[in-house]
Amino acid sequence: MKILIDDADLKKIEEFFDMYPYDGVTTNPTILSKTGNPDPMDQLKKIAALMPEGTDLHAQVLSTSAEDMVKEAKYMTDVLGGGKINMFVKIPATPEGLKAMAMAAKEGVNVTATAIYGVMPAFMAAKAGAKYLAPYVNRLDVLGYDGVKIAIDIHNCVKAAGYEAEVLGASFKNSQQILEMAKAGCGAVTVGSEPLAKLAFNQVAEEAVNVFINDFENCCGKGKTMLDF
Ligand code: G3P
Repeated sequence: MKILIDDADLKKIEEFFDMYPYDGVTTNPTILSKTGNPDPMDQLKKIAALMPEGTDLHAQVLSTSAEDMVKEAKYMTDVLGGGKINMFVKIPATPEGLKAMAMAAKEGVNVTATAIYGVMPAFMAAKAGAKYLAPYVNRLDVLGYDGVKIAIDIHNCVKAAGYEAEVLGASFKNSQQILEMAKAGCGAVTVGSEPLAKLAFNQVAEEAVNVFINDFENCCGKGKTMLDF
């Protein structure tokens, strides 16, 4: 399962890639607005420049008519794609967005269907040629639905129908939601900075490591490692 960084802050993105080989970066208009950069294409170019070769960048259109969404998607693909990263354009899974997805996919745009709050819009997006389907897991939970179950239902329906699309689970608040996606075989998740930093963090593990170091130093000397022997 791919794990992507759901953030547009250059420093955080650089730090995350430095720590672990994440599979890419996702943004949405709200995430981009939080950077304070009034030129979102400039911010996306800077993000793409930081990303390792072969990773995926997802960014969203703002237009509301299908024709304009397709124009915007092609422009974003032309400007941001074609280099070392794989460009995916996020289009909302609304009726107008679904129309745009079919048109954009035919024109060679890599489409990610976003703002998915149900199984049926996701299924229709897969049928329209979307490569990724992004259900908003935690936002669904907040609305009283079972976000993980909806994301897994999408995965199962799309796989049963033989479509190419993969679930790109989005909007997570904790590791358990993400683990459930992995157990179901979902293709990808995108995770915000806070839950991402905690995916592999465990206070008890940190304490266990500190005990090992203390015991070793008591026997072999302060600050010593195997390199000293
Ligand atoms: O792009 C979708 C995802 O980033 C939403 O996450 O945390 O705002 O619910 P969140």
